[in-house]
Amino acid sequence: MSSTRTMVEHPGRDLALELVRVTEAAALAAGRWIGRGQKEAGDGAAVEAMRLVLATVEIEGGVVIGEGEKDEAPMLFNGEAVGTGVGPAVDVAVDPVEGTSLLANGRPDAISVIAVAPRSTMWSPGPGFYMNKLVVGRDAREVLSPALLRAPVAKTLAAIADAKRKRVDDLTVFVLDKPRYTGLIADVRAAGARVLLRTDGDVAGALMAATPGSGVDVLMGIGGTPEGVIAAAAVRALGGVMLGQLAPQKPGEREAVLAAGLDIDRVLTERDLVRSDDVFFATTGITDGLLMPGVHYTDDGATTDSIVMRGKSGTRRTIHAEHRQGKLMSLSRISG
Ligand code: FBP
Repeated sequence: MSSTRTMVEHPGRDLALELVRVTEAAALAAGRWIGRGQKEAGDGAAVEAMRLVLATVEIEGGVVIGEGEKDEAPMLFNGEAVGTGVGPAVDVAVDPVEGTSLLANGRPDAISVIAVAPRSTMWSPGPGFYMNKLVVGRDAREVLSPALLRAPVAKTLAAIADAKRKRVDDLTVFVLDKPRYTGLIADVRAAGARVLLRTDGDVAGALMAATPGSGVDVLMGIGGTPEGVIAAAAVRALGGVMLGQLAPQKPGEREAVLAAGLDIDRVLTERDLVRSDDVFFATTGITDGLLMPGVHYTDDGATTDSIVMRGKSGTRRTIHAEHRQGKLMSLSRISG
C-alpha cells in the first residue's frame, strides 16, 4: 500500500482575529457618544478602551501611526510600546475613532481601526499631515500606474472604467466634501461619474473603493497621512491599489516636510506605505454606514459588526458580535 504525504503550509496565527477585540472595545466605548456633539469626549473614551484591550494582545508593538496628532486630540502616542511585549515585533497604526465629527454628529461610517505589520515596514509621514490619494480594487489593478495620480480626472476614470469593464457613468467616486474639492467634484461629474460626498472618513472610503462590489469604485482626493497609511494596510490586504503623494495644506507644512528630507514629488503605492504582505487589519463600525452597521444597544448589552483581514492569506472576514453587559464575553458569528 502506498502512502502519499501532502505538504500543507502551516497557516500561522491570524492576529486580526485578536485585534478585532481592540476595535470592538473602542467602538463600544465611542458608541455611547454618537450624536452628542462632543468629538473629543467620544475619541477619548475610544482611546482608553483601545489601550486597555491592546495591552492584552501578544505582540511587541510600537505605535508608528498614533491618533490625533493633526487635531491635537487624545492619543495613543507615536513610539508608545503596546501589547504584552511577548510575541512578534510589529508596527501598530491606530485610529480609535476615524471620523470624530461623524461620531459627534451621528453621521454614517464612523469606524474604529487598527493595522499591524512587521517592525519597520510602515511608512512614516514625519511632519506631513496631508496626502493626495487614489484607491481602486483589485479589479482595476493593472491600469493604476503612478502617472494616473496626476493625470486629468477624465483620463484616470476612463482607464479605471475600462479595467472594470464598466462605463464611466457607472462609476461611483468617493470624495471628501471639503472646500478644496470644488474643482475635483466638478471634474468627476463632468467626466460622467457619480460622486459620493462625505464630510469625513476617507479610511472607510478607501476600504469601500478597494472592495469589489461595495458600491464605491474609486477614492480620490486629499486626506490625512495617518489615515493614508492605515488605508494602505487594508488596501494591501484586499489586493487593491493605492497611490499617495504628500500634499501639504497647512501653513509651514511644506517647509517642514522638505526639511525632514521627504520627497514631495514621489508617488507612493500601497506597497511603499506598508512594505510587507504580512499585514493584519481590523475595523469595527461605530455609526451605521455603507461599509457596515454600527454599534447597536440591546436590552442586555450591545452588538457590533467588524471586518478583519489578513494580508498573507488574503482572507477577509465579517464578524457580528453580541456583547453582554457586565460580562467580559462576546458571542461572535464569523463568516468568510
Ligand atoms: P478625524 O477622525 O481625526 O476627525 O479625521 C477624519 C478625516 O476626515 C479623515 O478621514 C481624513 O483623512 C482627514 O480627516 C481629512 O482632514 P481634514 O478634515 O483636515 O481635511
